[in-house]
This record gives sequence, C-alpha cells and structure tokens, in this order.
Amino acid sequence: VWKYRYLIHPALPESLTVSRNEGATTMYRSDRVSQYAGISLHLKHDGENPTGSFKDRGMTVAVSEALRLGMKRTVCASTGNTAASAASYSAVAGMECTVYVPAGKVSQSKMAQTLAYGARVVEVDGTFDNALEESLDLVEDGSYTLNSINPWRVEGQKTVLYEILECMSDVDIISVPAGNLGNTSAIGKAIMELDTLGLLKKVPRLVAVQAEGAAPFYRMWVEHSESISRVEPVTVASAIRIGNPVSWKKARRAIEYTSGTVVSVSDEEILEAKRCIDRAGIGCEPASAASVAGIRKMVQEGEISRDERVVAILTGNLLKDPMSPVGNKV
Ligand code: F0G
Repeated sequence: VWKYRYLIHPALPESLTVSRNEGATTMYRSDRVSQYAGISLHLKHDGENPTGSFKDRGMTVAVSEALRLGMKRTVCASTGNTAASAASYSAVAGMECTVYVPAGKVSQSKMAQTLAYGARVVEVDGTFDNALEESLDLVEDGSYTLNSINPWRVEGQKTVLYEILECMSDVDIISVPAGNLGNTSAIGKAIMELDTLGLLKKVPRLVAVQAEGAAPFYRMWVEHSESISRVEPVTVASAIRIGNPVSWKKARRAIEYTSGTVVSVSDEEILEAKRCIDRAGIGCEPASAASVAGIRKMVQEGEISRDERVVAILTGNLLKDPMSPVGNKV
C-alpha cells in the first residue's frame, strides 16, 4: 500500500507508518471460474492481506493517522473483518481497541482473531447497523473511529485499483461485494481521481454486488430512489449483512461516474460461486464470492460482452467464515 504513499497520505512521516506490508495481492486466472462465470475472468484476491481481508489496505492508513494525531484508543463496529484488522493494527501501534459487533452474528474465526489481537469486544443486540450507531458514543468520548466513515480508510482502499491497473492496463469492468459501501466508494474515488488527471485509457464500469437479503443499495438503484431505505438484513454472507450502508452517497456517485451498475444475487448463487472458487483451489469467504456471482448473472443477462476485460475482487480469505456454507449460520 505504501508504495502509493503520495497518492494516499503524502503528509504522513514514514516513522509514523503502522504497516504489516499489506497489498500486492495476487491476480489469479482460473479456467474453472471463468467457465463458471461465462467470461474470461481475473480474480484479485484481497483475502491475501495480513489479517485475511481487504480491510488492511485502509486500516494501515487510518491507524497511522491515529498515531500521528496522538490517539490512544480506537473503536469500530464490524461484521468481523474490520474488527480483526482494527485489532491487529491497533495492537501494532500500541493502542487500545474496542469493537462493537452484532451479537451472535460474527463468524467464530473472525471473533477469535479479534480477541487474540487483544481488542475489547462489545456485543450489541441487533445488526451491524445498530453496532455502528453504538460505537459512535465512544467516538464522542475521544476514541478514533476506524470504520470507513473515516476518510483515511477510503484512501488506503484506493490502492487495489492501482494494483489492478499495474497488472492490466485497460479494464472494462470491476466487480466488488457491497455491504457498507466503503470499498465501492474507495475504488470509485481512485477511478475518478485518475480519470480527472487524464491517466485512464478508459473508465472501468464499477459493479457493486449485494446479497439479495441485504440489498438496500440495489433497491435504491433499480427504483431510482432519491435516498436509501433501511432493511432488516438476512444473508448467509455474514460480512455483508448490512441494512443501512453509510457510504451510499459516495458509492452512488462512483457507480454513476463509471456508468456501472448494482446487482443483487441470492444466497444460493453466492454459495454456488464460492464452491466453484474453492474447488478451483483459490478459495474465499462467502461474501467475497458475490463478486463472481454478480458477473455470472450479468453475463447470463447479456449485460457483459465476451470480449470485455473483467476483474472480480475477492475480499476475504477462505478461513474467515468457514461454517456458513455448511449450514451453521453464525
Ligand atoms: N467483503 C468482505 C469480506 C467484507 O468483510 C466486507 C465488509 C465487504 C465485502 C463489503 O465491503 O462494507 O466496504 O461495502 N465488511 C465490514 C466489516 C462491514 O465489518 O468487516 P463494504
């Protein structure tokens, strides 16, 4: 990530950089997954980051900024991956970390990771959305928020686009699983900035893929609504079980700017795509497979032509949420 220091946080002194060498993840090609999706597909595996998800790209920047500001305590709400990442980077920086999670709804492996890194876990009755609201009380008491409402998280998460462009100079479509919409916003910001400077050969269409049972952004998009309506989120993909995404305005701007779209896929489609990615020897957590399921759906519906260059981002490691697909919906 810090290879792109001058594009994400030029003012940060190197001595204050809290890093675990995140980024530089693998771009895979798999005949099996391409055949499944119905198009030649590149898979950018951000589950290869130090704590096993893309969150580390943003966390390294946000925690570095917290250190620069002299903060002693951090806080976030999470479906699990932000928690594990925040806990790790806060521990590296010597800060106390508190995470708010929806009670009983976070995978055991993400919870184990978070506790092992020494974070304090507060279980909240309700969803991620309730946990986020509660976490903001601690922000008022002087803790530094590590959710993607923090703009430094977004800055770090821009780097996945730079890596994709280093690997393939022109890309037609980038698909990403969408929950709280921080990642969609970050990739969109990176595209808009490079395009403003005239550095893009073409603007890739950004595709945000939501799980059918947690798809308020999809609903807003297809209904051309002025604002988002909260839903009670239900999906096997625990990482994106979010009913009131905070970054919807930035994400909508990103989708509009790139002439992209929002897709929704069922839990069955997510698990079928995951099975294929797993059997291909690559593997990912359920939420991540939404990006591939979304592309397959668009190909089937004739929204992508066979010669387009498509990248699906895999956001989390296989071991992150291993029990959901075998029926234990933690
Ligand atoms: N994929 C995975 C594996 C995630 O953990 C998340 C979000 C997303 C996709 C969606 O990204 O929220 O930027 O649209 N996980 C958050 C968390 C909410 O708490 O770990 P988004």
